[in-house]
Amino acid sequence: MNKILVELGSRSYPIYIGSDLLGKSELYSQHIKSKQVVIISNETIAPLYLKTVLSQLDKYQVTTVILPDGEQFKTLDYVTRIFDELLSNKFSRNSTLIALGGGVIGDMGGFASACYQRGINFIQVPTTLLAQVDSSVGGKTGVNHPLGKNMIGAFYQPQCVIADANVLDTLDDRQLSAGLAEVIKYGLIRDADFFVWLEENMSALLARDKKALSYAIEQSCINKAQIVSEDETETGVRATLNLGHTFGHAIETGSGYGVFLHGEAVAIGTCQAADLSRRKGWLNDVDVDRIITLFKRCHLPTTPPEDLSADRFIDLMSVDKKNVDGQIRVILLKKIGEATLPIGINTEDLRETLDGYGR
Ligand code: NAD
Ligand code: GLY
Repeated sequence: MNKILVELGSRSYPIYIGSDLLGKSELYSQHIKSKQVVIISNETIAPLYLKTVLSQLDKYQVTTVILPDGEQFKTLDYVTRIFDELLSNKFSRNSTLIALGGGVIGDMGGFASACYQRGINFIQVPTTLLAQVDSSVGGKTGVNHPLGKNMIGAFYQPQCVIADANVLDTLDDRQLSAGLAEVIKYGLIRDADFFVWLEENMSALLARDKKALSYAIEQSCINKAQIVSEDETETGVRATLNLGHTFGHAIETGSGYGVFLHGEAVAIGTCQAADLSRRKGWLNDVDVDRIITLFKRCHLPTTPPEDLSADRFIDLMSVDKKNVDGQIRVILLKKIGEATLPIGINTEDLRETLDGYGR
């Protein structure tokens, strides 16, 4: 097992990465502070892994909340179900919430933990590649609103992250590819050597080679832990993790939550950001081609949906947490391995990419 520390002073926490970690009771017990434990999961993941987790917790008073599966259920209404369960079982402030699932369950469980009695203990047990390399680390929690993705939320750090690579065996290929989009992001924003490694090892990753997958998860978590330690609440460098996300969130909201997977929307958005970076004179044609090719090799979409017009994109992108005084700001690439901080883009420049790339 590997252990990567997210350094945040007294709120520092470990990310455990390895095989068969779900069945290691000591990983949970070290981070649980009282008898009361609630596990949040969904209808797909619970039949696969809930029993294993439950059997590590026999000395606790455990209750479970099994939510429906899907991005469209990442709402305040469904978080309320978690509060209902906690209150009806008289859970107190020192109880622990375990989020067993992908990014949807992790974001909702984390948000419920941040809000319930103004904050309870929580543990992330990410079960998708995307959640293991990104969403479970760093304390961004929250839910969607019909008018904007992840618009309601809180920064709230877990006590630990337990990333068991074996659970990825049951993940389907489409979800694996969606996770790879966020892995590629680390190479693009700050780790050119990792980007080259990904180009060289993409076939092994897609074939689910355990050694390659573990390396990709570890490198991603090392990069993410460093960024979060430096800028927990996104006043600077953390915004670079949003490469492609302003476009991507517009695609997710505009198409209806759940139509495009988050990672798929990010892949398209990153290609749009790369195109805009080329128009700024930073990336050359060869770099943009390398980026698009790598996403394509992951079987990820690289062009925006035809029915999402430039006007609609602009309208949706104007609801984004990076924007200032109503101006759309995006992350661009100076080169492969170096991202800009959020840059204000005028509508005409944005339109060139929205109308000119992939149409
Ligand atoms: P997800 O949580 O919807 O999981 C994807 C699908 O895989 C679901 O159907 C799920 O039930 C299923 N699944 C999960 N684990 C499985 C397993 N081991 N075997 C079989 N099926 C499994 O999606 P996701 O891609 O994990 O996460 C996307 C969400 O994460 C989005 O809501 C996005 O906004 C959020 N996100 C948050 C952050 C953050 O920093 N908090 C970062 C990136 C993404
Ligand atoms: N996934 C973006 C962030 O954690 O900041």
